[in-house]
Amino acid sequence: MRVFLASIPLDGRAIAVIGSGEPALAKLRLALDTPSRILWFAPGELPTAAEIPAGAPAPLRRLPSAADLKGAALVFIALPYPEDALAVTAAGRKAGALVNVVDKPDLSDFHTPALIDRGDVVVGIATGGAAPVLARDVRSAVEAALPKGLAILGAASRDIRETVKATISDFSSRRAYWTRALRGPAAQRAAAGDEAGARREMLRALNETPAQAQGEVWIVGAGPGDPELLTLKAMRAIQDADVIVHDRLVSDAVLDYARRDARRIYVGKRRGEHAVPQGEIQDILIREAKAGHRVVRLKGGDPFVFGRGGEELDAVRAAGLPAYVVPGVTAALGCAASAGLPLTHRDWAQAVTLITGQGKAEDSDVDWSGLSAPENTLAVYMGVGAAGKIVDRLIGGGRDPLTPIAVVENGTLPGERVLKGVLGELELLLSLNGVDGPAILYIGDTAAFADARGVNLLRQEAAA
Ligand SMILES: C[S@@+](CC[C@H](N)C(=O)[O-])C[C@H]1O[C@@H](n2cnc3c(N)ncnc32)[C@H](O)[C@@H]1O
Repeated sequence: MRVFLASIPLDGRAIAVIGSGEPALAKLRLALDTPSRILWFAPGELPTAAEIPAGAPAPLRRLPSAADLKGAALVFIALPYPEDALAVTAAGRKAGALVNVVDKPDLSDFHTPALIDRGDVVVGIATGGAAPVLARDVRSAVEAALPKGLAILGAASRDIRETVKATISDFSSRRAYWTRALRGPAAQRAAAGDEAGARREMLRALNETPAQAQGEVWIVGAGPGDPELLTLKAMRAIQDADVIVHDRLVSDAVLDYARRDARRIYVGKRRGEHAVPQGEIQDILIREAKAGHRVVRLKGGDPFVFGRGGEELDAVRAAGLPAYVVPGVTAALGCAASAGLPLTHRDWAQAVTLITGQGKAEDSDVDWSGLSAPENTLAVYMGVGAAGKIVDRLIGGGRDPLTPIAVVENGTLPGERVLKGVLGELELLLSLNGVDGPAILYIGDTAAFADARGVNLLRQEAAA
């Protein structure tokens, strides 16, 4: 660590800005976002009224003396002449302020980090002046990962801090309270912009004993496998989870976002194998939430697309527990994007149907003949085992056996394969190539657009 990041209290202090060019105006804007009194000295040419930030004080048209800078915590100097900058630096130091000479890290007492301002919560990223652009990139990445409503939670925490101290004297109980209060319904209210609601929830949590503290269940879509396809909301839910109940289809790369102390419960299902019966999965969710945990039920793709997420939501709500759903990129969309296969196309497909190859009963109710219309892309989930039946029904319903098909196995994951062929040979394509990973079958003219990937033993094609 070449530099140390510290925070400087600004309540009741002053910030002085010396200069009148754009760098000085940028510091003025920064200072205006703080509770400090602002002193502005602008000996040079003034910017136009429209350029001066709203709320800025009238500038004093001279350089400041040490007496002028008394009470200032920070002095920002953006002057064109080095001798003026040096004189003001000396004056600032004499007044007891920390001095920053813009773009001159060697002359400065402190550097300005890339800042994320969420009211009471401020994040700074510093590179000691070595790589400001890198700091800005990191700031964007951090900004994207921060929960919504952080400013509201920060302000509410400040407001009730003394009450909490007076109510819970023991340090570790107090810490447990804050963890509970900041992650529970208050965070939901804050994310929705409801300041009063967030404070109310935090105070409500104060009156609960930990045993009464209610957990909650988040039913979260993990996407098809590539962790970059997680939504920001899903990532936050995973990072906040005390317990993660997950399937086989959730990739390790996604699970890596969980806290190290989060408990993981595997309830994986393979084709034809139900490791943990559905009812038992629901019981686990309810049991863990009732124990006061924040439970994330992490499911491949989207929880509401062939994911039985609806049943889990019903069960958790019926148990009187709060439940939330976070959508995910469903496999048909993720795999199509990865293979370069447009699901609809102005010239070739006016509709897309997501369908399962495995109905509830052995012989599914799906009316495949009704799905034989040519200008429809079919994306079949769990269709590998039922491929023969699907082909027979579609051709029987009038679909051309030469209709293009594409099979995407392990889509968006490192072992992804994209195999292409025609409808009449689908079963052979699957068996010859030994497709046994999760796969989506695409049937329709748009399948011809897919980029083949991996060796196709039926077609003797090799692609990148
Ligand atoms: C029980 S369904 C779950 C679907 C999931 N809820 C979704 O929205 O993608 C499992 C099926 O999804 C498909 N699937 C899931 N992930 C996949 C992937 N990475 N590549 C190809 N198919 C996938 C396969 O058809 C697999 O048999």
